[in-house]
Amino acid sequence: MGLLASRLACLTDTVAILLEWVMAQIVLHPGIQSKMQAELDAVMGRGHAISNADVARLPYLQRVVKETLRVHPPAPLLSWARLIPAGTTAMVNMWAVEHDPAVWADPSTFWPERFEEEDVSVLGGDLRLAPFGAGRRVCPGKTLALATVHLWLAQLLHRFQWAPADGGVDLTERLGMSLEMEKPLVCKPTPRW
Ligand code: HEM
Repeated sequence: MGLLASRLACLTDTVAILLEWVMAQIVLHPGIQSKMQAELDAVMGRGHAISNADVARLPYLQRVVKETLRVHPPAPLLSWARLIPAGTTAMVNMWAVEHDPAVWADPSTFWPERFEEEDVSVLGGDLRLAPFGAGRRVCPGKTLALATVHLWLAQLLHRFQWAPADGGVDLTERLGMSLEMEKPLVCKPTPRW
């Protein structure tokens, strides 16, 4: 039942949770937001709707999502217990791998540019960064999830400037079915055009 519930949570919550974490980091890092908007303006111009096909031309935006998956993996505990003898319970703490200073330089810093120096796949081929799991039970929704988050994020940033609301942004994490923001994000959009 627990496993079924966690799979249902994966279907419904994780995409929204990832987008909330990305937006939280963006309002905390105005320089990153400006760089994303400069990329959007250079690639898209203004006054045009963005489609899925355009996302391939937005590498910086994709790096920001990747860095968010590293710092705030929405599903941080992988149930690779399936690979371990019956009677043993074990989970892989992907959050710990993704914050390990032996694996990542300055792991607590939100720094999408790290993937310009070395690109690392999030799709399960590199166990330093496996927010969708890996192997035979890897998340079957990973491509849909990334396509959705990239497109929504591009649309949100193309049309609006985002700032924190008066209460600020609190990055405290809460581990329930997924790794959520303890205090939901509230931010203020201003139209850019
Ligand atoms: C950002 C969004 C998402 C993240 C971070 C995520 C992450 C994960 C992770 C870590 C697992 C478990 C891997 C393991 O236990 O070893 C998983 C499993 C699963 N995910 Fe996702 N997921 C996301 C979105 C989605 C979406 C959009 C769908 C469906 C459309 C989906 C469907 C599933 C299913 C059915 C499983 C169970 C696979 C199995 O047990 O064989 N996920 N996901």
